[in-house]
Amino acid sequence: MDNKRILTGDRPTGRLHIGHYFGSLRNRVKLQEEYETYILVADVQALTDNFNNPEKVRKNVREVVMDYLSVGINPEKATIYLQSMIPEVAELTVFYSNLVTISRLQRNPTVKTEIAQKKEIFGESVTYGFLGYPVSQAADITAFNASIIPVGEDQLPLIEQCREIVRKFNSIYGETLIEPEAMLSKEKRIKGLDGNEKMGKSLGNAIYLSDTEEEITRKVMSAVTDPNRIKKDDLGNPDICMVAYYHNLFTSKDEYENVCKECRAGERGCVACKKQLAKDIIEYLKPIREKRKFYEERPELVDNILMEGTKKAQIVAKENMKRIKKAMKLDYFEDFHI
Ligand code: TRP
Repeated sequence: MDNKRILTGDRPTGRLHIGHYFGSLRNRVKLQEEYETYILVADVQALTDNFNNPEKVRKNVREVVMDYLSVGINPEKATIYLQSMIPEVAELTVFYSNLVTISRLQRNPTVKTEIAQKKEIFGESVTYGFLGYPVSQAADITAFNASIIPVGEDQLPLIEQCREIVRKFNSIYGETLIEPEAMLSKEKRIKGLDGNEKMGKSLGNAIYLSDTEEEITRKVMSAVTDPNRIKKDDLGNPDICMVAYYHNLFTSKDEYENVCKECRAGERGCVACKKQLAKDIIEYLKPIREKRKFYEERPELVDNILMEGTKKAQIVAKENMKRIKKAMKLDYFEDFHI
């Protein structure tokens, strides 16, 4: 059995930003060279907390695929597919729901935090679908026999829950599923322009891979700097300045050290410093922006890539499902399958 298959993905709830780029996308571009890679656009999972806004999910499917392609995810190497078009995932979710208790789901730290954050959609009582999304994520992973799951730290409880389901399944129905392992991204989470620990759409503090040069400049000019520094010759503290923080990501080590030195000495004005940063970010993201434009002008090509990836994924999931149903004694007819 292939034990080098990796699988990961994103909920299509917005365009991807530089936090995604440094946190996971850049790594995926490397991993596709070494592993058989599956990347899912998790539209069904996106609906668990956006069920009242299907238009938003639909629109962002293509945005996310274009973001993938523009950073260098290569459809010849990685299979990009749409979750909702893999019916086996929905079936497995039903099967696995017998193997997990409600209280275990309620204790899942990621789910718990998210429920607390999503009061405006769930009110006092969470939906069955949202509470159960870790079960569906276990189905995403096992439908493809994936063994390595590259994710950020917030996803670890979901992988752990998947492993428990796999163990339980194997102990009841016989060794059938691979127990996957998380491959934790080495990169730290990128902070927002406002200094918030998280970069996110709802926080309005993100630079998107698809932002125009003007948008990047406007956002960088509004980034939070050392609040005690009012005049240019005030001595600055780059450790609490988001502009210095981003210089560290987008410029060379030498240049970053120079920025910090001049800032501490009061020799570098914030406005000039921001202008320089905006220029550097624009330059850094230029190849991504150009590639994205290429795909934006060719929506039928993007659709085709997603369709071809999904077709390939369907075949793999279908094959795998035969084995799983057999283990569960649901293989009634030799030549008659759905
Ligand atoms: N939960 C992931 C996120 O919010 C997306 C996702 C869905 C996923 N299914 C997955 C990630 C399977 C890894 C494996 O980012």
